[in-house]
Amino acid sequence: MKKIGIIGTGAIGRVHARHAKRVGLEVAAAWDTNPAAMREFQNEQPHVAMEPTLASLLSRRDVDGVILAIPNDLHEPLAIQALAAGKHVLLEKPMAITVAACDRMLDAARNAGRTVQMGFVCRHLPAVAMARQLAIDQRFGNIYHVKASMYRRRGVPGLGGWFTTKAKSGGGSLIDLGVHLLDAALDIMGHPKIVRVSGATYSTFGKRMKEYAYTSMWAGPPNLSGVCDVEDHVTALLRCEGGATIELNATWAMNIPDGVLPDGLAIFGDRSGCKIGLQDQSVLLATEAGMAPTDETLQLNADNPMDQAWDGQARAFMQLLAQSGEATATALQGRTVQAVIDAIYQSAREDREVSVT
Ligand SMILES: NC(=O)c1ccc[n+]([C@@H]2O[C@H](COP(=O)([O-])OP(=O)(O)OC[C@H]3O[C@@H](n4cnc5c(N)ncnc54)[C@H](O)[C@@H]3O)[C@@H](O)[C@H]2O)c1
Repeated sequence: MKKIGIIGTGAIGRVHARHAKRVGLEVAAAWDTNPAAMREFQNEQPHVAMEPTLASLLSRRDVDGVILAIPNDLHEPLAIQALAAGKHVLLEKPMAITVAACDRMLDAARNAGRTVQMGFVCRHLPAVAMARQLAIDQRFGNIYHVKASMYRRRGVPGLGGWFTTKAKSGGGSLIDLGVHLLDAALDIMGHPKIVRVSGATYSTFGKRMKEYAYTSMWAGPPNLSGVCDVEDHVTALLRCEGGATIELNATWAMNIPDGVLPDGLAIFGDRSGCKIGLQDQSVLLATEAGMAPTDETLQLNADNPMDQAWDGQARAFMQLLAQSGEATATALQGRTVQAVIDAIYQSAREDREVSVT
């Protein structure tokens, strides 16, 4: 059984641990700088050795890979340290907070001869996997447009904490939610090159922190003396080589009634198309038969899509460790997504369309 370590035992570190165990990885060790997070993790995972330092975890020879579930600004330094220690890395999204950091990480992986698997968990959702397969099977024909959206009426995570502090997170709803949408859209479309983007970001609710009314808060409660200098809404148009476009909308907070706007991915193909919700249990394919528009329902094996996705991601990491092989969601793809994110932020700042490098 392959042994792994978990670095960062907060909300997502704990999710990773549960799913790693479910698929047959042994979580041998864990480390967090916050003793309270370590204690909470150990309550759930009493058999995991809680290491006294990062160095002690990384020096364990029985640990082949580590999962990094830490704030975004630490992805680069800790991934580079883990790679240099000879570990394969399953890295939470986003890859880093700038594309320059991604390039340094790619160099580090190359130098160490180790692999970074990106934590693009949405790829493993049954509906996304089905859409990708439909694209591979040419059921959509030519995909000329994808609309990718995630709208939350009240979903600012940890207001005033690291999620809303640009120096730590790299940004708001775009780098947090948009990253999932972008990766899923690109994966379904077969990874076309995005050449130009035009985006706008909005910081509406964080500016009025004390007035932000909500019912529950991921990564909360709010720290009202903390910082919120990131966007809570982004809209962008992405132009791909060959002419296809992606419209991206990612929203942490808005004053629109729940459930009105279409969450998920709408795939426009010249042969057929569909709109998938990320956690859908079936796909309704809009197609043509004879001269008439026809709908076809495709059932998915998706009793619990989110759990299945986390299991799928953990299984992919287990395979990588077993074969020292290539990741399914590669670091290069993580870098591509980061380059698009950087370009959208630049476009928003400079109020113009920009090229993606
Ligand atoms: N895939 C998803 O759906 C998803 C969802 C939420 C968050 N995330 C990503 O997961 C990562 C962690 O997010 P989270 O929600 O678990 O945040 P969190 O704040 O709950 O947990 C982060 C943990 O990292 C610890 N930490 C900070 N500095 C550290 C260091 N130097 N060494 C070790 N531990 C350190 C903190 O003490 C904390 O316990 C982020 O990159 C985030 O973008 C992914």
